[in-house]
Amino acid sequence: MGDAARARDALGRVRQEVAKAVVGQDAAVTGLVIALLCRGHVLLEGVPGVAKTLLVRALSASLQLGTARVQFTPDLMPGDITGSLVYDNRTSEFSFREGPVFTNLLLADEINRTPPKTQAALLEAMEERQVSIDGRPRKLPDPFVVIATQNPVEYEGTYPLPEAQLDRFLLKLTMPLPSRDVELEVLARHAAGFDPRDLAAAGVSPVAGPADLAAATRAVRAVRVEPQVMAYIVDVVRATRQSPSLSLGVSPRGATGLLAAARAWAWMSGRDFVTPDDVKALARPTLRHRVQLRAEAELEGVQVDGVLDAVLASVPVPR
Ligand SMILES: Nc1ncnc2c1ncn2[C@@H]1O[C@H](COP(=O)(O)OP(=O)(O)OP(=O)(O)O)[C@@H](O)[C@H]1O
Ligand SMILES: [Mg+2]
Repeated sequence: MGDAARARDALGRVRQEVAKAVVGQDAAVTGLVIALLCRGHVLLEGVPGVAKTLLVRALSASLQLGTARVQFTPDLMPGDITGSLVYDNRTSEFSFREGPVFTNLLLADEINRTPPKTQAALLEAMEERQVSIDGRPRKLPDPFVVIATQNPVEYEGTYPLPEAQLDRFLLKLTMPLPSRDVELEVLARHAAGFDPRDLAAAGVSPVAGPADLAAATRAVRAVRVEPQVMAYIVDVVRATRQSPSLSLGVSPRGATGLLAAARAWAWMSGRDFVTPDDVKALARPTLRHRVQLRAEAELEGVQVDGVLDAVLASVPVPR
């Protein structure tokens, strides 16, 4: 078996590990794996109690990677994320104490509960893949992937992420409420003694490491993209800029994100070329946070995903 096949196997096992803790939510699990392959950041949205935190914790537990989790609270300071200079009395010198961003997989839990200054420190680290303290840049490890969770319901004391910075997330995944069958299975597991705080007891163990991820990333980069498919991606993002329901369309960065995500999805599906269907499959999670509804459309109850579907339907598909 070649490196790429081994890597694909390892990622399949990651899904199995996650499933030991999380019932269903397949689309979110797939999205997280795609983001890992692309080294892209993810915004994970869902109402309270749909297993956002559990999913990311289970993913961390199934990977041999450095992971850290930060609960974003109203009193969190930028230095609590990036690290800061601390004075050492013994040596009478300042030394840098690394913050939790110095890891491979950072769970930024409830990111919209912290004030903009602290959010900005994280968003900057995400984009630059380094932090600058006291004028000195310090590189973050590779891979460095942030999975931020947020609640769609705006409660008092929450700070929505600045629209302009949402573009820094490769994907925005939404976790729906479970079906009746899934919810029954969740209850059955709890009745049988499943404890979400103890993933090791549930048998979740690390099954893929940096070498698997590196091999997978290499394989994804070798996935072919025909000129017609690239033209299709460009036509789709340009069409979002023409949509009468949107005041802001997708940026060129969004187009490159869609290309990367579609490639990873093609590889995960066992192909070495991207089809227009791959592009369609990844359009919602890659683009939904990069557009803005017009106020009128919002008042009429128009939903972003619906607008994206209409845009896709309006663009001729290459064959
Ligand atoms: N699909 C699911 N599979 C397994 N357990 C689930 C599922 N959905 C909910 N649960 C249960 O609900 C609990 C709450 O999940 P979790 O704390 O991860 O939710 P959350 O989405 O992060 O909520 P919040 O927004 O309040 O932080 C889990 O620990 C688990 O016991
Ligand atoms: Mg949570």
